[in-house]
Amino acid sequence: MSATSTSALAGRHVVLGVTGGIAAYKAAAVARRLVVAGAQVDVLLTEAARRFVGAATFEGLTGREVRSEVWDDIAAGTHVELGRAADAVLIYPATANTIARLAAGLADDLLTNALLVTRAPVLLAPAMHTEMYEHPATQANLATLRERGVAVVGPAVGPLMGGDLGAGRVVEPDEAVAKLAALLGDPAAGPAVDAAVGAGVLQGRRVLVTAGGTREPIDAVRYLGNRSSGRMGFALAEVAAARGAQVELVAAPTELATPPGVTRHDVTTARQLHAQVLALLDAEDAAPLDVVIKAAAVVDFRPAEVAERKLKKEQGPPQIRLVPNPDVLAELGARARTAARFPLLVGFAAETDDVEANGRAKLAAKGAHLLVVNDVGAADAGFEVATNRVVILHRDGGRTEVALAAKHTVAGRILDVVADALAARESEVAGGVVPPGAH
Ligand code: CTP
Repeated sequence: MSATSTSALAGRHVVLGVTGGIAAYKAAAVARRLVVAGAQVDVLLTEAARRFVGAATFEGLTGREVRSEVWDDIAAGTHVELGRAADAVLIYPATANTIARLAAGLADDLLTNALLVTRAPVLLAPAMHTEMYEHPATQANLATLRERGVAVVGPAVGPLMGGDLGAGRVVEPDEAVAKLAALLGDPAAGPAVDAAVGAGVLQGRRVLVTAGGTREPIDAVRYLGNRSSGRMGFALAEVAAARGAQVELVAAPTELATPPGVTRHDVTTARQLHAQVLALLDAEDAAPLDVVIKAAAVVDFRPAEVAERKLKKEQGPPQIRLVPNPDVLAELGARARTAARFPLLVGFAAETDDVEANGRAKLAAKGAHLLVVNDVGAADAGFEVATNRVVILHRDGGRTEVALAAKHTVAGRILDVVADALAARESEVAGGVVPPGAH
């Protein structure tokens, strides 16, 4: 794949929307690259963008007038003309505010008006602080836009305004331009790895995702738990749904909002999770599951006795006897070995030492088809953070590395591998080469 192949842009009419974030300065480089690729580029600046960058820069780069307001030329109906003429729209950077305006369907400036008119592909390159990106409002807005077919590239992880570091940095101009070319059908631009661009890849598939960390009660107020936030599993559920899958999300306690289009089943303990997963797997009134993704962090042991009331300090430290919880993944793996047809089984492994070797051993022991290995000892990956870096181990010995990125981006990569594995299984079955339990 060439990250810079942009031949699909030659002769195309691109509307470049620039919104008001510090990353607006990089939009000049985007405009330049689009022009070099042969596109005719109309830049629309929002009012806030004008506080960061001047129209003259873009007029000089594109040779065309830069506009902001519907009021600038009412008679010309600029928004209608631009929206209809566009072959593609790139919003770079896309602020949380503009993302919210688009999700709500507002038409309060020239850019949002043109976007309601256009039927051309739209690509957003979000840029904002990590907290703003992770806010349920922004996530819901992005999910809504993805559902409508809007593509999203990034955000990347890196330094942010004010010296912070995290997910929310706009992708580099080259990456945004390459993604736009991919949207316009340049095969040399490689796959655009975002949820919307992969739209349809999981169409008609039934996917079960478990997420979050179970809680095992000790008494009326205390429990044994772990640091899983549920973000990776929720991102997988959201991206799978955006790609057309019918998603059942079995969620252990988490603050996260249910992603759009996903059916959620709340559970608290490992045993409830176990029962819920089996009920969905064996349901007779639904189509069979195609994929089970076990992203939940299941607490391995539970207190043998649970005190109904709160234990009092004066009684001294409680002696808590622990008993094992069911290992859901291992149980499914055992069934997969003998079943004539079984969903593709994707496990997760949280490791702090000898990460990959332990992952390999776990893949074999649990009987999963794929295992996503997390280094939970790293500060920027694993539990409680918005980013992740994983290695996907394949049962046949293969491996796929996914570099540090926002969890939604990592989810997209994992689902790419899942879609490939499903296709490979099906072509083997069609060829009649697979004995029961081997897939
Ligand atoms: N898992 C499960 N049921 C359990 C424990 C784990 O289904 N009781 C699943 C998890 O959802 C995950 C995978 O098994 O997909 C690996 O979980 P992990 O916590 O890494 O491994 P454990 O099996 O708990 O082994 P250990 O704690 O010894 O590393």
